[in-house]
Amino acid sequence: MMKKVLSMVLVLMILCVSAAMAETLKMGSSIDFAPYEYYDDETGDIIGIDVEIAQAVCDKLGYDLEIVDMQFDSIIAAVVSGKVDFGMSGFTVTEERKQNVDFSTTYTTAKQSVIVPVDSEITSVDDLLNPENAFSIGVQIGTTGDLYITDDVEANGLQHTIERYNKAPDAIVALNSGKVDCVIIDDQVALAFVNSNEGLKLLDTAYALEEYAICFAKESALYDSFNTALEELIADGTVQSIIDKYITAE
Ligand code: ARG
Repeated sequence: MMKKVLSMVLVLMILCVSAAMAETLKMGSSIDFAPYEYYDDETGDIIGIDVEIAQAVCDKLGYDLEIVDMQFDSIIAAVVSGKVDFGMSGFTVTEERKQNVDFSTTYTTAKQSVIVPVDSEITSVDDLLNPENAFSIGVQIGTTGDLYITDDVEANGLQHTIERYNKAPDAIVALNSGKVDCVIIDDQVALAFVNSNEGLKLLDTAYALEEYAICFAKESALYDSFNTALEELIADGTVQSIIDKYITAE
């Protein structure tokens, strides 16, 4: 009997120690991007599609998850320097980023979309590509929305000015106050902003199609196990059910 109790105590102690020792993975993210990563209005918790997918991967692999909220354009540097273990923030896979980080298997698709005031003179993406027009365009700094329009302006000699904001909602504030004429941002995020701000709408056509993935430092020891777990969660439908929880199919 005594022996049994003792061995149970021992098992408990080992369990406690190993639970306390569960390694924590740090995720770099810009928490301003509903429905992917944002603060819950009521609880103040960080929630969203990316957060739940990352949590599911960590649960599977036995890690604790810690989210580090940072400016979007500093996440890749934080990943490369090892300040965080991975970056997950609605990251679009681009060739340029691939030179600095490794991307996981993609877990969803998105489109760069254009938000305008309901009475805007901008009625299509073509209006943004017309060299005769000169608009003030709001983007989040370092995002693909920023990179694509910056390239288009340079390549086609467009007259627009580009206003770059640290956090996505700052661009919407600028749009609401008339400081910018439109905002280029990911479609689901755009939809969330349009739904929570009166007087805004989305242009029908998308500006660019893209795919989201998680980024890691090159040669990261974490990459293989993390990506395998992610692929399993995609294959067994977990990822889709997380997405469906936040995005109702149109
Ligand atoms: N998909 C875009 C990109 O990769 C925007 C991502 C912005 N993410 C955020 N959490 N604010 O550049």
